[in-house]
Amino acid sequence: MTGSAQEKAKIELRNVRKSFGAVNVIHGLDLTIEGGEFVVFVGPSGCGKSTLLRMIAGLEDVTSGDILIAGRDVTDLDPSRRGIAMVFQSYALYPHMNVRENLSFGLEMAKTPRDEIDRQVQAAAQILKIEPLLERRPGQLSGGQRQRVAIGRAIVRKPLAFLFDEPLSNLDAELRVSMRIEIARLHRELGNTMIYVTHDQTEAMTLSDRIVVLKDGVIEQVGTPREVYEDPNNLFVAGFIGSPRMNFMDAVCLSGNRIGVGDAVIVPPQPLSGMSEGDHVKLGIRPEHLTVGDRGEGALRVKVDFSEYLGSTRYLYCYLSSGEMVTVEQRDGRDFSPGEEAWLSCTAECLRLFSADGLRLRPAVLDAGAAQ
Ligand SMILES: Nc1ncnc2c1ncn2[C@@H]1O[C@H](COP(=O)(O)OP(=O)(O)OP(=O)(O)O)[C@@H](O)[C@H]1O
Ligand SMILES: [Mg+2]
Repeated sequence: MTGSAQEKAKIELRNVRKSFGAVNVIHGLDLTIEGGEFVVFVGPSGCGKSTLLRMIAGLEDVTSGDILIAGRDVTDLDPSRRGIAMVFQSYALYPHMNVRENLSFGLEMAKTPRDEIDRQVQAAAQILKIEPLLERRPGQLSGGQRQRVAIGRAIVRKPLAFLFDEPLSNLDAELRVSMRIEIARLHRELGNTMIYVTHDQTEAMTLSDRIVVLKDGVIEQVGTPREVYEDPNNLFVAGFIGSPRMNFMDAVCLSGNRIGVGDAVIVPPQPLSGMSEGDHVKLGIRPEHLTVGDRGEGALRVKVDFSEYLGSTRYLYCYLSSGEMVTVEQRDGRDFSPGEEAWLSCTAECLRLFSADGLRLRPAVLDAGAAQ
């Protein structure tokens, strides 16, 4: 059951569009998922994640464009013939069947020989550690165990790829963590291509080889967790990836590659392209990159509104004189009382700047390279 070349199916979306009546939901989307890759779709509610997954599975028609799985055009193919298994948030188990019967059902329908069914069910139960539960009915299982059975039902079909639509969102926090680790292990053991939709930042960051950030049916960025976190293409991705979110402040370009934020003047490590004196820009700094320190030219003066003590960290929620709110994540350091003044600083490498229309302003040298 370890991933053979055939099991590691590449999935290609070519100019895929989807409309429900007059409403366009997916706008000409191109994406290639390599065989064996674990890709996570994230984006705000209603951006089209489930629709995209359902189109890949064949549960939803494509308005235009092509979908290829393992090099084969499956755009008009029946879901049962695509070699895809999908796991949903609702486990959709048959309540009157025990776990063994739930796992066997699809194979029986496909007229698989009995001994082969038994072998498959046994193998899946072993992988998911549900062997002691095979004779129980879904009503006698916990949420996590039910979700394991639902994943088991997908495994026995030996699919080319797995599609998961928020499979853990019905579980409590502790169970989510252990199931997340199970899914990572499953991917390592099976090696199949997996696409996973989630709202959970931690799941997206920890499970994926690459994250696809979607907004209103358009891909905003595709990259490794590190790329989308550290090198966001735009204001949307910068604000969406990371929790607590990146702080954004109104800033203005001054002469000599300097940026004015309120009373403070900061200097990015390299000159940025696409910036002229007097331009209004957005400065982005992640909460963990701000440190509380001394007053200085590059330091931002804030008033602490309140602080949250979380044991390993403390969040300070502060206001700039402009009224903008800034969150600081402190690993150590002293507590502040409401209304107290503090000075925040950040190393130049951690600053991210965005144009007024939300595009990332990158170092001029890099831009020249990319344009060649
Ligand atoms: N059958 C349908 N008919 C009409 N509109 C639909 C249909 N299914 C989905 N939509 C619309 O398409 C858009 C995308 O829906 P989709 O379910 O793909 O979003 P999502 O990203 O999965 O959101 P969530 O995170 O809330 O699950 C939404 O605006 C939704 O209202
Ligand atoms: Mg959805």
